[in-house]
Amino acid sequence: MNIYRLVYYSRNHVSSDDASYETAVDDILAKSRVNNVRDNITGALLFNSGCFAQVLEGPLDKVEATFERIQQDERHSDVSLLGLDPVSQRSFPNWAMGFVGLSDADAGRFAAVGLSSGFDPSRLNGEQIHILLRDLTMEEENSF
Ligand SMILES: Cc1cc2nc3c(=O)[nH]c(=O)nc-3n(C[C@H](O)[C@H](O)[C@H](O)COP(=O)(O)O)c2cc1C
Repeated sequence: MNIYRLVYYSRNHVSSDDASYETAVDDILAKSRVNNVRDNITGALLFNSGCFAQVLEGPLDKVEATFERIQQDERHSDVSLLGLDPVSQRSFPNWAMGFVGLSDADAGRFAAVGLSSGFDPSRLNGEQIHILLRDLTMEEENSF
């Protein structure tokens, strides 16, 4: 089966100061995990106080249909597509939707992609976001 990888980032409208923040993120992840298992999609979502960045990988029609729904979601805006390309293998085979929350205190972790300051996905291209998420979810896997 041909697998495609889509990468985007967006402006997060779920404030990290908001008491409903955790619920909102939990809702997104719970829904994503159910839908993505159904649609044979894997990937990861990165979140900080300003932005989301997400990688979706799976069959082209399912990835496109999921991205259509995501673009219409009012929990974020300015959804910017960074890449949609065929790939030879999945980078997140074990994650229906991996999740990495980043606080500003995590700045040291950005050295992996040559970022000295905080996470600002608008300064990254699709491949850099893909590598960042892959490395961060790999750290999570290895910590179990
Ligand atoms: C940042 C973000 C990431 C999301 N990721 C996914 C995802 O990977 N898969 C998915 O099905 N929905 C995702 N959603 C939710 C969709 O926007 C939409 O609410 C959901 O797919 C609707 O599913 P339903 O038609 O089954 O109710 C995401 C939403 C946001 C804000």
